[in-house]
Amino acid sequence: LVLLSWLAQLPKVELHLHLEGSLEPQMLFDLAVRNQVTLPYQNVKEVKQAFQFTQLQDFLDIYYQAATVLVTEQDFYDLTWAYLLKCKEQNVLHVEPFFDPQTHTERGISFATVINGIDRALEDSEEKLGISSELIMCFLRHLDEESAFATLILAMDHLDKLKGVGLDSSELGHPPEKFSRVFAKARELGLLTVAHAGEEGPADYIWTAINDLKVSRVDHGVNAIHDPALIKYLQESQIPLTVCPLSNTKLKVFDDMNQHNILDLLSLGICVTVNSDDPSYFGGYMTENFEALIVSLDMTQEQMIKLVENSITASFCCQQRKQQLS
Ligand code: ADE
Ligand code: ZN
Repeated sequence: LVLLSWLAQLPKVELHLHLEGSLEPQMLFDLAVRNQVTLPYQNVKEVKQAFQFTQLQDFLDIYYQAATVLVTEQDFYDLTWAYLLKCKEQNVLHVEPFFDPQTHTERGISFATVINGIDRALEDSEEKLGISSELIMCFLRHLDEESAFATLILAMDHLDKLKGVGLDSSELGHPPEKFSRVFAKARELGLLTVAHAGEEGPADYIWTAINDLKVSRVDHGVNAIHDPALIKYLQESQIPLTVCPLSNTKLKVFDDMNQHNILDLLSLGICVTVNSDDPSYFGGYMTENFEALIVSLDMTQEQMIKLVENSITASFCCQQRKQQLS
């Protein structure tokens, strides 16, 4: 109990959060009414019943459908602001959220509508909540290279709002190297790169994320454990992994939280971090993710301090902000 109240006030940093995945059921219904979108659910209870997944794709199908309620710039503002208020509540002081522009541009929402709404909320949060941020735009890997390139071109008018690019959606069958040329172009534009790899996919995808996409961090990366040479490389290079415990158990990457390997990776000296991924779908934000590790893996205060220190080290914020956070 002492540990839980200590955790509540511990200053935290979040590096793996999909804004679309922070859409809570109540806001889903409110926006559906506001924008006259029909949903296949009658109430919050039915939505929660639908949140039972056996693999990544089960979740993605529901996640993309829910995103159709997001239409106006204000909707993207409200979504982002609600997440930031949650961060304030949990003492999360710095965030590097993802958004998936193609989910919206594919249904006729303009890129500017999406990014301007998000950016305005992030700006307000710096001023009103004291939460700093760096925004990362993700490409959907189930779509083709051409669509990713078209998205990067749209982003070129908004480079001042972006720190980096990432890669998400259905992993198996869509290896990182499918986007080597897009990521090369993004790096030329001065953007940092990250990619989801080794969530459902093999350790090989982590290697190509590193070697072909030149990522600064790997999102998830938990399947690195199956490749001793990769473990050695991650130890030496200190390339961080943004691990998402509740996500991994909800999507059956691990059968149970007591099977999760995050503390094994930590004790191997790998730069692992704790994150929430899609909190409204997976049962919790940052604090709940730490709590789950305390309950199931007997995580200690010392381990939590190291995990947060890793997040600060792994973050894309400036040195001055890193010092403030430490
Ligand atoms: N998009 C949102 N959450 C994701 C995840 N955990 N893996 C891949 N794509 C995602
Ligand atoms: Zn993710």
